[in-house]
Amino acid sequence: MKRLGILLSGRGSNFLAIARAIREQHLLGAKIAVVLSNVEDAPGLASARELGLPAFAIPSAGRKRADHDAEMLARLHQHKVDLICLAGYMRIITPEFVRAFPNRILNIHPSLLPAFPGLDAQRQALEYGAKVSGCTVHFVDQEVDHGIIILQKTVEVKEDDTVETLSARILEHEHVAYSEALARVLSGEYIVQGRRYVHRDAARPSRATAR
Ligand code: GAR
Repeated sequence: MKRLGILLSGRGSNFLAIARAIREQHLLGAKIAVVLSNVEDAPGLASARELGLPAFAIPSAGRKRADHDAEMLARLHQHKVDLICLAGYMRIITPEFVRAFPNRILNIHPSLLPAFPGLDAQRQALEYGAKVSGCTVHFVDQEVDHGIIILQKTVEVKEDDTVETLSARILEHEHVAYSEALARVLSGEYIVQGRRYVHRDAARPSRATAR
């Protein structure tokens, strides 16, 4: 059984989609061990408590990133977390944090990376005039919105889209994408090959890096 640690800063709809997938037995072998937020009144934290999950706020405002991350890490270790899901966690994590969970931190981002990293990805896509956008689930590495891509889903950008309508359409796909990506990781059937995350049957043996 893999123990998931969920980190969120806001609404928590991606967290709830993961919780639902586990409840409906679409993610066998996973259990949510703890939900942490850097924002005390994050609605996602309240939802986690309603579901009876261990949920804690570790406020980040005004704190040094290293101190805050050390406390987050201690709490994750305390709950024996194997895999971390950033689910709308709007804070950059330290290299020490990333090193503590190598290729074991997942993030979801509302664009087709490497296009439109950073904040307001949906607005960036609209303003750029992109005809297609979507979402990306990726491993977290030392650079923002940069790690190895686990899975992406595309969404059409319509001519009358606003940030709100495009965000809502992407979000529906996010809710499916996160669980699918988790299923891939939990399956143990995928390996990292350079920047590619591929099914072991499709891997090139000479360059494969076992995970
Ligand atoms: C989601 O759209 C997620 O992709 C985005 O924040 C939203 C969180 O929604 N994350 C980022 O932009 C990270 N750079 P949620 O709290 O309802 O899951």
